[in-house]
Amino acid sequence: MNVAIIGCGGMGSYHAQMAANCGARIVACVDAFPEAAKKLAATHGAKKALGMKDLAKILSDPGVDLVLIATPTPTHLELVERAAAAGKHIFCEKPFCRTSADCKKAIAAAKRGKVKLFVGHVLRYFHEYEALKAQIESGKIGTPGWVKMYRGGMFPVGSKKWFSNFDQSGGVTFDASIHDLDWLRYMFGDAERVYCQALQRTEPVLMDYAQMTIRMKSGLIATVVGTWAHPSGFRAKAEICGSAGLLYYDSAESPLSAQQRESGAGPGMIIPLGADSVSPYQLEWEDFLAWVRDDRKPRVVPEDGLKAVALAEAALKSAKTGQPVKL
Ligand SMILES: NC(=O)c1ccc[n+]([C@@H]2O[C@H](COP(=O)([O-])OP(=O)(O)OC[C@H]3O[C@@H](n4cnc5c(N)ncnc54)[C@H](O)[C@@H]3O)[C@@H](O)[C@H]2O)c1
Repeated sequence: MNVAIIGCGGMGSYHAQMAANCGARIVACVDAFPEAAKKLAATHGAKKALGMKDLAKILSDPGVDLVLIATPTPTHLELVERAAAAGKHIFCEKPFCRTSADCKKAIAAAKRGKVKLFVGHVLRYFHEYEALKAQIESGKIGTPGWVKMYRGGMFPVGSKKWFSNFDQSGGVTFDASIHDLDWLRYMFGDAERVYCQALQRTEPVLMDYAQMTIRMKSGLIATVVGTWAHPSGFRAKAEICGSAGLLYYDSAESPLSAQQRESGAGPGMIIPLGADSVSPYQLEWEDFLAWVRDDRKPRVVPEDGLKAVALAEAALKSAKTGQPVKL
């Protein structure tokens, strides 16, 4: 499988390695900054390194089978539409698009183009969260009633500081907590309503902190806290209380199979810890490639990406209006 990487920043570079680990070939790199494309192309021996204005050349190349989209979220829709129209299968980073309306357009574009469209909801591939899932499904804690999820760390920077433009990134509520929102849906079905309080500010310091209370259609109540207010480090927690017991996970006690890089300013990405465990990002690629090659249904379908965005969007609306929002 020949892959073109679109967006050669933090996640694009990491995904290129994950795709290569799965035996895919990185044949082209494209970025708004041609220098970033050149650097990544050199790492993987890709022959083509181009700026965005030359994207059409990559999309019309029959030697490219699929594309990875890892650009700032508001650009996803246009890139999905162009890649789908060119008949390329697509791996799109989460959040799928910046709005649920855009997600619907992206899904329609993939259908029109008859291409496979995968959304990178990577928490579904983390060993620790899969272990929680297995224990819940084994009935060990009875019927789950309350769930508390937490994800936090430094404020990510990104190219041109796009994460601190809340209109672009949606802040921690939309960009980071979406991992937990998707996992809640994956485990417990759809949400009924959400109430969210969020502190988003750039002055006097850059920070964002949000708490969401969600009632699922099943009646389960979940609290999701997301923070980009910490001076350093990364931490994720999950606690599930059921009728017969409690399960909990804390990355500070048992590190995640991928952890946030510590050096420099907040990188906004997580990278694998040890060589002994397969990165969940690689597991995503294995799943996506098996879908493309063998038509095996993956763990994440585009509608999951849409529903996660709709829930995060409802949380942002609630934070703005001060009222609970029904899904
Ligand atoms: N799954 C995860 O764990 C995870 C973690 C962080 C970010 N993300 C998501 O990945 C995506 C990229 O985030 P990132 O952290 O890699 O950001 P980044 O800023 O590090 O990288 C983005 C890259 O895209 C390039 N770019 C900007 N606009 C472009 C355009 N129109 N066309 C082509 N290239 C363009 C930039 O020059 C940069 O190289 C976002 O959607 C983000 O939410 C996912």
